[in-house]
Amino acid sequence: MSFDRSLKIAPSILSADFANFGQEIEAIEAQGCDWVHVDVMDGHFVPNLTFGPPLCKAIRKHIDTVMDVHLMIAPVDPYIDAFAEAGADILTAHLESGPHIHRTLQAIRGAGCKAGLALNPGTGVEDIDYLLDMVDLICVMTVNPGFGGQKFIHSQIDKVKKLRAMIGDRPIHIEIDGGVTPQTAPLVVDAGADVLVAGSAVFKGGSVDNPAPYGDNMRAIRAAVAG
Ligand code: DX5
Ligand code: ZN
Repeated sequence: MSFDRSLKIAPSILSADFANFGQEIEAIEAQGCDWVHVDVMDGHFVPNLTFGPPLCKAIRKHIDTVMDVHLMIAPVDPYIDAFAEAGADILTAHLESGPHIHRTLQAIRGAGCKAGLALNPGTGVEDIDYLLDMVDLICVMTVNPGFGGQKFIHSQIDKVKKLRAMIGDRPIHIEIDGGVTPQTAPLVVDAGADVLVAGSAVFKGGSVDNPAPYGDNMRAIRAAVAG
């Protein structure tokens, strides 16, 4: 994975047909997505349950781009090796997931993955100074994690600006997760984001039998940003 700050769209398969992940992933890649975002939830750190390493391993062979795994779980450390072995390119853990995020980020890189750090909407940027040189991506949650289809939280735009200034020349992606639409995407890209996760805004109106809307939806986001 080489680093650049060009716009990347990462559809969240949380909004895909759960009975058909393989074909859904192939459809969004054929329609031009950049990464595939995989939301892992444990029913404890967040109030929803999705899936774990075996499913990640099963879908890995359908992903030609980048497997971006968002861990909404606590604790994280006991599961890092399993997600790495499942083929994750990026493993993102939450700052709020436990008292030892520094150790968690070390372990993610130690397992051979790019390390992501996610921040809940209520979390400030004050505590990340000593983590900046250990991360490849910072994920700004623009909804409270747990569910797709929620409303974008505008106060997070200011956080993105602060992070962009803190990052400077470091090769760290700023990813936005939650409520991304053609309306909200330009706000966060202007503030400094380069990776946009989008679930409902990408998958709406389409299916594996009718994948063209996935492409239309992604082009609408790119056009809004470019405009
Ligand atoms: C929320 C997840 C998101 C979610 C985004 O906890 O981390 O990735 O699927 O969904 P939308 O784009 O529908 O807000
Ligand atoms: Zn996510």
